[in-house]
Amino acid sequence: MAPRLDILHNYPLRTLNTFGIDVQAAHYLQVTDPAQLDALYREPALRDMPRLVLGGGSNLLLTRDFPGLVLHIATRGVVVTGEDEQHVFVTAQAGENWHAFVQWTLAHGLPGLENLSLIPGYVGAAPIQNIGAYGSELADYFYACEVFDCHTGETRSLNKQDCRFAYRDSVFKHELRDCAVIINVTFALPRKWQANLRYSELANELANYGVQAPTASDISQAVIAVRTRKLPDPAKIGNAGSFFKNPVVTAEQRDTLLTKYPSLISYSQANGSYKLAAGWLIEQCGWKGKTMGAAGVHAQHALVLVNYGGASGEDLLRLANQVRDDVLEKFGVVLEPEPLII
Ligand code: EPU
Repeated sequence: MAPRLDILHNYPLRTLNTFGIDVQAAHYLQVTDPAQLDALYREPALRDMPRLVLGGGSNLLLTRDFPGLVLHIATRGVVVTGEDEQHVFVTAQAGENWHAFVQWTLAHGLPGLENLSLIPGYVGAAPIQNIGAYGSELADYFYACEVFDCHTGETRSLNKQDCRFAYRDSVFKHELRDCAVIINVTFALPRKWQANLRYSELANELANYGVQAPTASDISQAVIAVRTRKLPDPAKIGNAGSFFKNPVVTAEQRDTLLTKYPSLISYSQANGSYKLAAGWLIEQCGWKGKTMGAAGVHAQHALVLVNYGGASGEDLLRLANQVRDDVLEKFGVVLEPEPLII
């Protein structure tokens, strides 16, 4: 039997986006079973509506009421689906909370994802921007995902190559942007685990604990401590993590900037280019801790824009544009937003 489609109307989204923006969806459906996607596809009026797939709402800036159908993914379940000589495969449904999933893997003796602890959002959104932190990114452990294609009504599997992961980027931000709904994600977790302490602040944190040979759980605890210290908790102050990507520039551009600004923070990339620390660029423009009405640049981390309460999406966008313009004027570098702006 086809599942019921309990569509709700004029549905408030304030608690469903971590910026806490108070807007509405014209139509809203909570998706607890992937079969609902198939049922939707069979209803032309619903199929052809503008659609917004919402997970944890942690990488989203809503600047207006959404005129179409919001699909709020709420499917649950995590299972070990197989293993080979090198990996254990774990499949999580898209509506699982990311951090809870990471903790589940650690509690089941399956290390690998610990550096990605406490990233807000849901499992299904994680591949879209290839979430990353503290020297790891999702692509390092991604094996495959199942997607429902809203244009063809088919469910198919994508492997790592199909997803074309790059820095905060994937095929889901390009060709598949408007048609793929991620149903579940399978991770390949290593049987032979090694601690990843490339990010020096993490290594220092563990050294401060006096831990010599950290376990994955130790690393998770250290990541949680560092994140909690530096980044605002979206449950307390509305935010979407880093608002801009770290810009990538040529070696020539970086050298010119370094001559002018000797304390410039940059990281060399495998292809000879350099990634600049956007937080540093923004701080140098004097924005750290500044506010424009209820919208602000976080006082502990200039890459994070915050809603101190009652800011609209437009207020935040105005602030973001001002920050972007100032960085462009001072450094000649373009900052690109990380969240999806609607
Ligand atoms: N910095 C400043 N001023 C600031 C903020 C940062 O000078 O106000 C400097 C720091 O001192 C550091 C450098 O900028 O030398 C980089 O800062 P940080 O290590 O905090 O990392 P980030 O590059 O700002 C990225 C990710 C974060 C991730 C951290 C840790 C992006 C856009 N952001 O931030 O991811 O947690 O690295 O790995 O790549 C997210 O994507 O939402 C996110 C929080």
